[in-house]
Amino acid sequence: MKGHTSVLLLAITAGITLGSSSAWAETYNLMPQPAKLEPGSGRLVIDGSFRVALEGFREPRLDAVAARLIQRLSRQTGIPLPGGLESEPGKATLVLHCDHAGEEIQSVREDESYQMDVTPQQARLSAPTPVGLMRGVETFLQLIELDAQGFSAPAVHITDHPRFAWRGLMIDVCRHWMPMEVLQRNIDAMAAVKLNVLHLHLSDDQGFRIESKKYPRLQELGSDGHYYTQAQITELVIYARDRGIRVVPEMDMPGHSTSWFVGYPELASGPGPVQIERKWGVFNPTLDPTREETYTFLDGLIGEIAALFPDEYFHVGGDEVNGVQWNTNASIMAFKKAQGMKDNADLQMYFNRRLMPIVQKHGKKMIGWDEIFHPDLPKDIVVQSWRGQESLAQAARLGYMSILSHGYYLDHALAPADYYQVDPLAGAAANLTPEQASHILGGEACMWSEFVTPENIDSRIWPSAAAVAERLWSPQDVKAVDSMYRRLEVVSRKLDGVGVTRNSSYMLMLARLAGTHSPESLTTLADVVEPIKAYAREGAREYTSLTPYNRLVDAARPESEVARIFAERADHLTANKDAVRKQLIAWRDSREELLPLLQQSALLQEDIPLAEDLSSVARAGLEALDYVDSGHPAPKAWVEGQTVLLNLAAKPHAELLLMIVEPVRKLVAAAERGSW
Ligand code: ACM
Repeated sequence: MKGHTSVLLLAITAGITLGSSSAWAETYNLMPQPAKLEPGSGRLVIDGSFRVALEGFREPRLDAVAARLIQRLSRQTGIPLPGGLESEPGKATLVLHCDHAGEEIQSVREDESYQMDVTPQQARLSAPTPVGLMRGVETFLQLIELDAQGFSAPAVHITDHPRFAWRGLMIDVCRHWMPMEVLQRNIDAMAAVKLNVLHLHLSDDQGFRIESKKYPRLQELGSDGHYYTQAQITELVIYARDRGIRVVPEMDMPGHSTSWFVGYPELASGPGPVQIERKWGVFNPTLDPTREETYTFLDGLIGEIAALFPDEYFHVGGDEVNGVQWNTNASIMAFKKAQGMKDNADLQMYFNRRLMPIVQKHGKKMIGWDEIFHPDLPKDIVVQSWRGQESLAQAARLGYMSILSHGYYLDHALAPADYYQVDPLAGAAANLTPEQASHILGGEACMWSEFVTPENIDSRIWPSAAAVAERLWSPQDVKAVDSMYRRLEVVSRKLDGVGVTRNSSYMLMLARLAGTHSPESLTTLADVVEPIKAYAREGAREYTSLTPYNRLVDAARPESEVARIFAERADHLTANKDAVRKQLIAWRDSREELLPLLQQSALLQEDIPLAEDLSSVARAGLEALDYVDSGHPAPKAWVEGQTVLLNLAAKPHAELLLMIVEPVRKLVAAAERGSW
């Protein structure tokens, strides 16, 4: 409601007629959109005389914020800017005013609000806390654009605060190891779109990725040498805090724990020896919840790991316990019987009840996947809802805090619009009372890493995570998909500027695929295909952590922007007929250059059917345009022939989908009618 009110107010103050949810959004390229923005008149010029002053509360973190701002502005504009601060605020281009210190350890209660006034004379950004200033600095950098006069920021007044306190990104560093630089560049990108929690999935069947000094065989035998040292974790936590981002560690237990048992087989519910898992899926090895030694070990491990992460939450995983080892261990079965437990859910609940005081003893609150939820657990746990939105609503109804991840799985390779439309307070949560709804803290985009490597992970996270960031920060009524895409395109380019490798890796991967040929013509095909969705790749062939992820499906983006724009044009054909025809001709003729390129590369031969389909589907589209232009409906036999062709082309090849098929289907339907 807050957002709606502010937009109405804005419409009145700025004299804008309110058509969609936010008329002014079309003037600026901000993502997430601020809670309230009033346009001013004129622009603040950004040139070599740009100076920053700090006012009010000071701490080293704020000097670092100012220094990074100057560096980034210099990189964004190409204008050399001397470092250092302006001591007289009156002479500064941008004044950063902070009221007071933020929380010693940033939490969900941190004040992230800020206000910004840009006039042609000066920009003034003020916030109660350093974190609020960081959020405002990102807005300021997004406001700056190049026009015929040079770089400038539009005059505006912004009052902004987040809708949800928990706006996260989870990165799985287990299925594929992600070195520090991957995390650092993603932290920078998160900060750029005001995300504030990095959830590190640190242990799973395929790897134990953090150094334990107490139980060193965990990483020595369970990680293939790929783990973060404790010193690196400390460095990472500081790096994130400097950017207003919390880091929440996850040790997944009692399932998803094969890698623990390579060094400590006695912790498992089944017999050893155990190897690091190389495949993807759900596996049997599970902690033995009936032995006291398990809890002694967990007390030692959680104590050690919790001390490295200042955040108030510790994630215990808890997902996908298949129960196979529990059902085949006589002493565990006897334990269940003696305790009157009816099933493995009861046993997992027993495990969680034992785990809870250990987590608390080390100063943390417990968060886990929705399987951990049980009304017997204390009210300060957080439930991370991944199997559906119902568990989120149910937890909130019972007074538990929860965050939403169902619908935000970036590894499903969906389009930004798909993620954008998922709202924590919609669906099952739509009927909560305001008090119940207040227990929903926000959400987290999840990047499971079965099908990503350090090379292509950014292309799955971005720009979709920016769409999720807007959903979690901006007022609920900010939801126009067209506006989102228009702004996302600009913001996405700025994310490249903070180090996101989405575009640079794409070109490197295409060049590798092309071998000694120029990759230029390969982009024609790569730009119109998308990886198959959700968990489909797991069923497509036998993948392991040792498989090369170097095929076209690994380079292709989750959403083909070219196909999306083509589909939009095809939907509004009268206005775009020439552009559509030109595009179809280029695709029809691409075959000539593409086929020799694909044939000469061992990695690309599997994509030949896609290149054939691209050409023949484009030809069908061109014929459809001709029929419509002729003013006569296309013959039935032609329509049937094209439908067969399109149905075949709609099937995946080499785990890729050809994204021009559906828009061409609409052209064929128009030809059948003989009109648009
Ligand atoms: C999960 O996706 N297993 C939490």
